[in-house]
Amino acid sequence: MAAGLAHEIKNPLSTMSLNLQLMEEDFRDAATPTEERTLRRARLLLGEVRRLNAIVNDFLELARGFELSAEAVDLELLLVELLRFVEPENDRLGITARTALRPEARHVIADPKFLRVAIMNLVLNAQQAMSDGGGDLIIETRIHDPFVEIRVTDTGPGIPPDKLDKIFMPFWSTKAESTSIGLPMTRRIIEELGGEMAVQSAVGRGTRFVVSVPKLPLALPGASGTGA
Ligand SMILES: Nc1ncnc2c1ncn2[C@@H]1O[C@H](COP(=O)(O)OP(=O)(O)OP(=O)(O)O)[C@@H](O)[C@H]1O
Ligand SMILES: [Mg+2]
Repeated sequence: MAAGLAHEIKNPLSTMSLNLQLMEEDFRDAATPTEERTLRRARLLLGEVRRLNAIVNDFLELARGFELSAEAVDLELLLVELLRFVEPENDRLGITARTALRPEARHVIADPKFLRVAIMNLVLNAQQAMSDGGGDLIIETRIHDPFVEIRVTDTGPGIPPDKLDKIFMPFWSTKAESTSIGLPMTRRIIEELGGEMAVQSAVGRGTRFVVSVPKLPLALPGASGTGA
């Protein structure tokens, strides 16, 4: 029902967006103060309409049913590849990434694509938390039977205790340009994978997210990495 409502909202939003764009074009060469004011207002409204549209899209994404596979995944391969992918941004921000991956925690049962999205959300949050001055990003794995724990730790500003229960709420964000579905999406994925998710944080010291996913009972040869 909620998804139906979201679709109903999207149609008038696109009409509004289209008309505001036309209005913006009409007033682009504004000659009088009144026309300039109208142009500014049209642009402001256009920005708000785009933001609403992004929120509705994110909501639809979140409400969508997931089809997750359950396969043997080489977690080490997945994490190393993911870190390689974010390395340029780490370098740019002055972030040093380190890993401590236990060999016995190498194989899990998961959907590699979704697991990658979940971990990527945590890594992006860590990067964004340390975007002002850099820091350390540490990814660790260990066995916590019957799970493998993946810990993503940063040395960013941390999260105040009164905010800790809010960060998993859709659309709660401290970032101006975000709609904030990263963590709700991550939690949903991890739960659908049969795992759990927790967070520890200390203001001024950093934040650690711990996700656990079912470990592979026997390390199978040929377990896939990213599933790509
Ligand atoms: N590692 C972290 N350090 C400090 N604060 C964090 C960290 N991870 C998340 N947060 C806080 O939790 C909020 C919600 O995170 P979430 O990933 O759900 O949304 P977002 O990052 O704001 O937006 P999006 O992920 O959709 O781009 C963030 O805005 C931030 O305030
Ligand atoms: Mg995020």
